[in-house]
Amino acid sequence: MRILMVGTGYVGLVSGVCLAECGHDVICADIDENKVQMLRKGKSPIYEPGIEQLMSRAMKRNRLRFSTNLEEDIGSVEAVFIAVGTPPGEDGAADLVYVERVASDIAQTITKPLTVIVKSTVPVGSCERVESIIQSTLATRKLHFTVPVVSNPEFLKEGNAIRDFLKPDRIVIGTQNQAGQDTLAAIYAPFTQEKPDILVWLDRRSAELTKYAANAMLATRISFMNELAMLCESAGGDIEQVRRGIASDPRIGPLFLRAGAGYGGSCFPKDVKALRHLGNLYGTHLGIMNAVHDANEVQKNHCFELISKHFNGALKGKSIAIWGLSFKPETDDVREAPALTIVQGLVSAGAKVKAYDPQGGESFAAIFGAHPNFQTCLSTEETLESADALTLLTEWSEFRFPNWQAIALTLGLNAPVFDLRNFFDRETVSAAGLHYIGIGRPSLPAQPRTTRTKLNKGEHHDRTIEPQA
Ligand SMILES: NC(=O)c1ccc[n+]([C@@H]2O[C@H](COP(=O)([O-])OP(=O)(O)OC[C@H]3O[C@@H](n4cnc5c(N)ncnc54)[C@H](O)[C@@H]3O)[C@@H](O)[C@H]2O)c1
Repeated sequence: MRILMVGTGYVGLVSGVCLAECGHDVICADIDENKVQMLRKGKSPIYEPGIEQLMSRAMKRNRLRFSTNLEEDIGSVEAVFIAVGTPPGEDGAADLVYVERVASDIAQTITKPLTVIVKSTVPVGSCERVESIIQSTLATRKLHFTVPVVSNPEFLKEGNAIRDFLKPDRIVIGTQNQAGQDTLAAIYAPFTQEKPDILVWLDRRSAELTKYAANAMLATRISFMNELAMLCESAGGDIEQVRRGIASDPRIGPLFLRAGAGYGGSCFPKDVKALRHLGNLYGTHLGIMNAVHDANEVQKNHCFELISKHFNGALKGKSIAIWGLSFKPETDDVREAPALTIVQGLVSAGAKVKAYDPQGGESFAAIFGAHPNFQTCLSTEETLESADALTLLTEWSEFRFPNWQAIALTLGLNAPVFDLRNFFDRETVSAAGLHYIGIGRPSLPAQPRTTRTKLNKGEHHDRTIEPQA
């Protein structure tokens, strides 16, 4: 099928490239000329593992091309996906301006029916709004055909997006229109061949709500664990043990139970806010959503407080090494990343921050802006030069097994390691001569000299450190 994907961000690009991989002819369109120029050269403007290889394969097979001109390309396609951003407005409501503009561009250009598929995350009722924009514009153009508008929310996860798209758990489709249903069935035929039950057919409003429900549920689990972690800190207890204690219950399950620095990214914060706003709009009190949002704000500030408290509030002049800025590993996306709040807190308190992220350094600097106390570095080692503390904010796998002895040598005996993702093995950190401070678990100061590993050249140690499993 010939498909136009409007918007080549994290969702549009991955969806377009993967649909081309499945055998469709795809045009990916974006208003950002620079992005399109890059894409035409085979370069991805976003970091997503495997995307450039798939792009290059699809381009070689002539199944994928990039465009800045929706009007020119729309005549040749049978389906248009809308995959543009829906950022939160001041009041938390999803801003539909980009979606509506695309709907209007489509309606002003088409001369024959096609199917419009809304992939962006949109509030309940948005497909009806898109449909009404299209039908009223067609009417003013004296064109009398119907354009089915279908909801097809996306559930991919940045960092694992290609696998998520090509091997989905489910594909949610909201439509009661037969033509729309036929188009979607044809688009996803390569998926149903493998898994006949993969398509979940819903009505449009339920499909729109499903996307918010999924993200809000996951955000709720994170905020719940973060609140329990705080209780562990004050009452005694270890959130990691509590997590293990509940994860094996099949009614609960092990995923999204990790306490940490708070959730971030372009989806959870925005979608929780949008759901809260929907509740207000429809006069339905969504108390849980308010609590989830508030707990997340509290958690980000709590992480800053952990660092500040350790230095008795005297952060001025302290140098803090930060590992990880992106909101999660395997992405360069820093939108709403906890790092933004924590770094802001540190530099405002007068600390110097030297940060390294494998992919997110540039995007972080672009959002955070220039600050005399903030510097991005090219390596973990560079962040540690003259640092007073190390803070882990994103659990990239390359941070998993650092040379703790070398770090202890650089930072000094009993220097704090703030593990804000409970990622490191605290025994190992402490055994190397550093002070481990995690989330929701007792901190562990450097082990006494007799049990510590070698810190200085020529110094003996009587404990061998095994790498963490
Ligand atoms: N990022 C995720 O992990 C994720 C996952 C699931 C759903 N979503 C949802 O998908 C939607 C897109 O998210 P994203 O992260 O890909 O956004 P993004 O900001 O990365 O990309 C949006 C793209 O749309 C382009 N655009 C805007 N207006 C346009 C127009 N009129 N014509 C052509 N292109 C236009 C922008 O230039 C940009 O490249 C959002 O609603 C988001 O909530 C995102």
